[in-house]
Amino acid sequence: MAASSFYVTTPIYYVNAAPHLGHAYTTIAADVLARHHRQRGQDVFFLTGTDEHGEPVKLAAEREGITPAELADRNYEHFKALAPRLGASNDFFIRTSDAAHMAKVQEVLTRVKDNGHAYEGVYEGWYCPRCADFKTEREIDPGNTCPIHKIPLTREHEHNWFFRLSAFQEPLERLFADRPDFVRPQARFNEALSFIRGGLQDVSLTRRKVDWGVSVPWDPSQVFYVWWDALLNYYTALSYARPGEDLTERFWPATFHLVGKDILKFHTVYWPALLMAAGLPVPEHVFVHGFLLMEGEKMSKSLGNVLDPFEAIDRYGADALRYYLLRDVSFGQDGSVSAAAFEGRYERELANEYGNLASRTIAMIDRYRGGEAPQVRHDPALDEDFDGLIEQISELLDRAEVTAALDQIWQRVRRLNRYVEERAPWKLAKDAAAAGELDVVLASLAEGLRVLTVLLQPWLPQTAQRLLAALGAPDHALEAARLGARRVGRVERLEPLFPKHG
Ligand code: MSP
Repeated sequence: MAASSFYVTTPIYYVNAAPHLGHAYTTIAADVLARHHRQRGQDVFFLTGTDEHGEPVKLAAEREGITPAELADRNYEHFKALAPRLGASNDFFIRTSDAAHMAKVQEVLTRVKDNGHAYEGVYEGWYCPRCADFKTEREIDPGNTCPIHKIPLTREHEHNWFFRLSAFQEPLERLFADRPDFVRPQARFNEALSFIRGGLQDVSLTRRKVDWGVSVPWDPSQVFYVWWDALLNYYTALSYARPGEDLTERFWPATFHLVGKDILKFHTVYWPALLMAAGLPVPEHVFVHGFLLMEGEKMSKSLGNVLDPFEAIDRYGADALRYYLLRDVSFGQDGSVSAAAFEGRYERELANEYGNLASRTIAMIDRYRGGEAPQVRHDPALDEDFDGLIEQISELLDRAEVTAALDQIWQRVRRLNRYVEERAPWKLAKDAAAAGELDVVLASLAEGLRVLTVLLQPWLPQTAQRLLAALGAPDHALEAARLGARRVGRVERLEPLFPKHG
């Protein structure tokens, strides 16, 4: 992969039900990273999609009395439609039922076998059909239940092909030693490493019992275990996302896989081991985020406590939802969400702090200077708060700290609000002798607002586009986010960016 390339992925979502806010959360975070790196002028690829095979989908289809393919065709549409509604700028949407994906899965996993990492054996142990996960003794709740889904585990006894995961114990420990930033945040790195150090058991490569999946070329009585099929999406997509072009060289290995904490083991242990077995480079970073909680419980389809992202977008707009989720639920931690908290942030922060700052600034330039921002240098009093901001945001986003980066920007939104109050341009406007001072204040507000809006573009893409156009300075490249780097010229009045809801 070229140094200027950036490849970010979301997990691929199971099509066993409709999308909920938990899925929207990862897609939004990945989109913020993708947009930020495009602002830096990098070559970006952003992938999301649907996981359509395996037991979770098969069982859901059985419950509805339709085939897994019918269920997948119906539900994938909802996930595909959600991405643009969220304002996500994904470059491709993969389905694991794509013929090109399936062929590539067969090719890579055959190589794993040819490299001597597969053997036939009998699996005997506990399994969660919702997670599609063979649980080790350390991952089982009392009464042999699944710690994530709270359902009884099933006892499996199955003749399968196995992947020799145990052979990768040492290489994985070395990977973690060499790359202290392979998994973030630190607590998740420690969790993954302690799982590895606890001893790795071989894991099924194929399933005989489940017939909904990619068939095993050397043993047609089996399909590949759904997790291998699913994980490989990150790699296979590059080979066919652009017809007639193979993007693998350009983007592999991935820069960031963003995943929820329930799928840590697959991404930080199984996945790098499989890639090593196939002779492929491992991703640069896996960032593990927490759960959105409602009333203290994980929001999930199976628990039934889900919020519909489409409804939230209809009411408040995609930008408000993007902002709310990444601001309120610190990326990397669990956090509660509620309609009341959403409304609170919307009113206080988006409408009052940012929306009003924009409308006041434009209105004052209109009223006091006939709509032309004064062409004078900004107030040096702002330099201290704005200097080095680009670098600070870039550093945080290099670590996928999307909440911390947003907080840094928001502190400057508040700084500009204090600046207006301190300098009270409405008073200066009454004093002819203060005309020069008023010019500086108006120019500073316009310029500060422009800079912050460029920085906010990854979180608030639609709003940023509207506001930068109204400021007559549409360039949202990251380099434009320095005071004085561009000039606000003629401004245009705008409808409120975040209208109040009755
Ligand atoms: N299909 C697998 C992933 C395969 S990736 C190679 C899967 N799908 S899922 O639909 O069940 O979950 C997808 C992602 O959504 C996971 O990262 C999961 O953590 C995330 N979330 C599901 N519920 C969530 C919350 N309540 N909060 C935040 N994220 C949550 O697992």
